[in-house]
Amino acid sequence: RLPALRERNIVLIGFMGSGKSTIGSLLSKKLYRDFIDVDTYIEEQQGMSIPDIFRKKGEETFREIEKEATVHLSEKERLKILALGGGAYGQPEIREVCMKYGIVILLNLSWETWKERLPDIQGNRPVLQNKTLEEMEALFYERKRIYALNTLQIDTDGKSEEEAADEIVHLLK
Ligand code: S3P
Repeated sequence: RLPALRERNIVLIGFMGSGKSTIGSLLSKKLYRDFIDVDTYIEEQQGMSIPDIFRKKGEETFREIEKEATVHLSEKERLKILALGGGAYGQPEIREVCMKYGIVILLNLSWETWKERLPDIQGNRPVLQNKTLEEMEALFYERKRIYALNTLQIDTDGKSEEEAADEIVHLLK
């Protein structure tokens, strides 16, 4: 049986640094729902940081771990707010399970806005290491096409995280 709309998890997707974790926590307070950051869940489960998982096990293994964790949480949890890792939605199984059990919301931002945030983002993001700005831009637009396989979105350009969270609350009313 599929969960009723009001029982579903709210699933936040978007590029690295789009504010999924911060907006997810704010939303958690506003909607009185628990917040689960899938990357944090993976780090606790593996006893290692995400960069360490990439370093020691490689990206392919990380993607397997990410798939299992996201599928597990999507199937098990109800009435939660989940923030996915920026690359998760590229996996068809993850898209499927999130759409089946959750309400997926994309935090959309422009390349120009993202570029300004890059110095804060780059440090602990293994997929951005050793990439030129052009390569990052290509990844940004490639991911944008994948995120578009989803219907609900809010634009975060020029908005505070508080405003973005309020907009989601409004969207869900
Ligand atoms: C990734 C995004 C990260 C994390 C991992 C890979 C990606 O999550 O899952 O470093 O491929 O975009 P955030 O979107 O929270 O940075």
